[in-house]
Amino acid sequence: MNPLRGARISGTGSDLPDKILSNAELAETLDTSDAWIRERTGIERRHVGGSTATMATNAGRRALDAAGLTGVDIDLVIVATTSAEQMMPGAAAVVHAELEIRGGAHDLNAACSGFVYGLIEADSMIVAGLDHVLVIGSDALSPWTDWTDRSTAILFGDGAGAVVMSACDEPSLLGWDIGADGTARHILFTDHNDTIKMDGREVFRKAVRAVMESAGAAMDNAGVEPEEITWLIPHQANTRIVDSICEKLGIDTDKAVMVIAETGNTSAGSVPLALHAAVDDGRIKPGDLLLLAGFGSGMSWASAVVRWQE
Ligand code: ACO
Repeated sequence: MNPLRGARISGTGSDLPDKILSNAELAETLDTSDAWIRERTGIERRHVGGSTATMATNAGRRALDAAGLTGVDIDLVIVATTSAEQMMPGAAAVVHAELEIRGGAHDLNAACSGFVYGLIEADSMIVAGLDHVLVIGSDALSPWTDWTDRSTAILFGDGAGAVVMSACDEPSLLGWDIGADGTARHILFTDHNDTIKMDGREVFRKAVRAVMESAGAAMDNAGVEPEEITWLIPHQANTRIVDSICEKLGIDTDKAVMVIAETGNTSAGSVPLALHAAVDDGRIKPGDLLLLAGFGSGMSWASAVVRWQE
C-alpha cells in the first residue's frame, strides 16, 4: 500500500422530501407545543414522506455532479441507513441501478453513526486501491414513527446527504475513532413492523459521554487540539446534546454546524446534510479542520477529523 495514498471529499450533495411538518402542526394532534419542542430540542420543523432509496439517489447524484463524476467512475457505493424499503436488497442496490454505478454496492446499518462509519471505511478502501467511493447517509424514519407518542414523534424526520471520496496523495482523514456498546441496544430500537422505541433521557446521557470520549480519541489520533477545530459537524439529534458536547470538548458552540431546526433528526442523513449545507454556503474553506461526530442506536458512535481540501 502507498503510505501517501489517501482520500479527500471531492463532492457533496443532499436531499429532503418536499412535505414539511411544523411543530405547530404536530401540536394539533399531540399534547405538546412549538415552544416546548424548540426549547428542548432546537427543532422547528421536519421533512416527511420521503423514500430512503430515492433521497439517497438524489443526494448521491448531486454529490457526483459536484465532483464532476458519473456512476461509471464509482468503484463502490455505501448507503448508511436503517430504513431501506426492502429487507433485501438494500437501498444501495436501487442507487446502484439509478446512478448506473460501475462498482460494488452495499448498505451499512449503524443507525445515526452510519455515515461517519461509512466515511472511515471508504477512506480505508481507497487506501487499499479504489479510486472513487460514494458514501451516502439516508433515512426515512417517518414511516417508523408512532405519531401518537410525543416523546419520539417530535424528533425524527426524513433526509439524505452524500459525499464522493476520491483518491489523492495528501490524506484528509487525519484521525478517527469508532465504538459501540451493544448492551445498551434496548434504549433505542425498532422491531420489524413496529415503531421507534426510545428512552430519551438515557440516550441523551450516553450520547454526550460517547461523543466526548470518541471525538477526544479521534482528535488525539489526528494530533490536533479542540481549539484547532474549525467546524464541528455533529449528528443532529438535539441542540442541547450538541451544546453539552461542545462544552465538554472545549469547542465554541458557534463552530457547530446545525441544520436540526429545519430537518429534525434524520438519523444517518444528518451528518452529511449538515456537511453539505456548510460546503454549499461557503462556510467550509480549504484548510479548515472538521470534526464529524455520529452517535445513535446500538449504541454506536464514530468520529472523524478531516482536513478540507480544495
Ligand atoms: N411535549 C411536551 N412535554 C413533553 C414532551 C413533548 N413532546 N415530551 C416529554 N414531555 C414531558 C415529559 O412527560 C416530562 O414531564 P414530567 O416532568 O411531568 O414527567 C417532561 O416533559 C420532561 O421529560 P424528559 O423526558 O425529561 O424531557 P427531556 O428534556 O429529556 O427531553 C427528549 C426529551 C427531547 C426526548 C430528550 O431526552 C432527547 O433529546 N433525548 C435524546 C434523544 C435522541 O437523541 N434520540 C436519537 C438518537 S440518534 C438515533 O440513533 C436515531
